[in-house]
Amino acid sequence: MAIVLAAGKGTRMRSALPKVMHKVAGLPMVGHVLAAVRKAGIADTALVVSPGSDWAATLQGAPATFVQTEQRGTAHAVLAARAAVTPSHTGVVVLFADNPLVRPETIALMLDRVEGGADVAVLAFRAEDPTGYGRILMDDGRISAIREEKDASAEEKAVTLCNSGIMAIRVGPALDALGDIGSDNAKGEFYLTDLIALGRERDFVMVVEEAPFDEVLGVNDRTQLAAAEAVFQDRARAASMAANTLDAPHTVFFSHDTVLDEDVHVEPNVVFGPGVSVGAGATIRAFSHLEGAVVSPGATVGPFARLRPGAMIGPDAHIGNFVEIKNAAIATGAKVNHLAYIGDASVGGGANIGAGTITCNYDGVNKHRTEIGAHAFIGSNSALVAPVSIGEGAYVGSGSVVTEDVPPGSLAIARGRQVNKADRAPVQKRTPDRKP
Ligand code: UD1
Ligand code: CA
Repeated sequence: MAIVLAAGKGTRMRSALPKVMHKVAGLPMVGHVLAAVRKAGIADTALVVSPGSDWAATLQGAPATFVQTEQRGTAHAVLAARAAVTPSHTGVVVLFADNPLVRPETIALMLDRVEGGADVAVLAFRAEDPTGYGRILMDDGRISAIREEKDASAEEKAVTLCNSGIMAIRVGPALDALGDIGSDNAKGEFYLTDLIALGRERDFVMVVEEAPFDEVLGVNDRTQLAAAEAVFQDRARAASMAANTLDAPHTVFFSHDTVLDEDVHVEPNVVFGPGVSVGAGATIRAFSHLEGAVVSPGATVGPFARLRPGAMIGPDAHIGNFVEIKNAAIATGAKVNHLAYIGDASVGGGANIGAGTITCNYDGVNKHRTEIGAHAFIGSNSALVAPVSIGEGAYVGSGSVVTEDVPPGSLAIARGRQVNKADRAPVQKRTPDRKP
């Protein structure tokens, strides 16, 4: 089973938002850790939070939540969830919610070590700059203690093998030892890391595993948050390039759940917000922003397009520059190529939406729908005042303000008729001639 610690004050973040709710790739850090635990195949998870953490209820999978009433350190926090551990569990893996990049395989490995006989398994990493991390002290090739930065001597500070914070503990004497940890240190806290020195006295079998730094980097401040984001993005770019082309990978930003099928072409400067999937062979052109959208195979989006939640772009449809689509289904082969807003609507297959077309979906109080039939043609600069429907194959003249339904196959013209008045143009020059 897993215990995820998320009760710390997060002071170094200097934020009204709890630290672990700060997002990496659109998902709160704690959400990343819980997802990795799930993917590691661990069913029982306890989340330790501070009092009044209403945000915990918003997390996917709603893990069992335990409140640490006072923040008295990481060992104290684990004990707050002690009741979640039952005799059916062999080991407990403790994770910090501010380690958002940990991989499921690593979590599973830590528990395997305990299954395999270790009392305690510590996940370590080598840091170029170990400042701020607990240092792993070895003696005769065996781990003898973990020393927190604030308590370390100059010699100990030079150690570059650091504690990731991820630790698996065997249920029984090793877990019970947490109750014997004292708070005699610079911060006056009950440190989980002190389990090691205790374990050494009690002859626990303790092993150290190493992970790369970019998997275990801890986020305490916003600089580290940006570093975690950068690592996530690099991983996502590398993974997506297995079968998709990114012209300028460093300018494409993914969310935790972005799905690119295969053979997708992504031009420079594209942002995928949460909830986007893109089908095979689609093209996302430069400077587009997508969120909560499904792009079907073969479709083209952008350049400079914005797909908002509920945008469903059908196969081979074209969404062009300066077009915004929200909560609207654009069927196969339909074209919305320039400067349009299509919201709360459906556009039939093969329809053509002219430049400057706007669905007037909001009357100031309620949202209304616009239905546009297959192969309809909407002339440029038309305003479709919802609720309204344009029948299959209907044609709307440019510049129309459509307030009534247009039957299938009809031509609708809803604009002032042009009047030309001979010789009525003012004769004076609006701009005086320039002297040569
Ligand atoms: C901790 C480790 C350090 C390690 C580093 C890795 C300890 C004492 N130190 O230091 O060895 O190198 O992580 O990133 O374990 N928390 C609670 N309740 C508390 C205190 C903390 O739930 O009373 C939670 C925090 O929300 C956080 C985690 O425990 O998720 C770690 O606490 P934090 O204060 O960030 O520890 P570090 O100083 O980073
Ligand atoms: Ca931390």
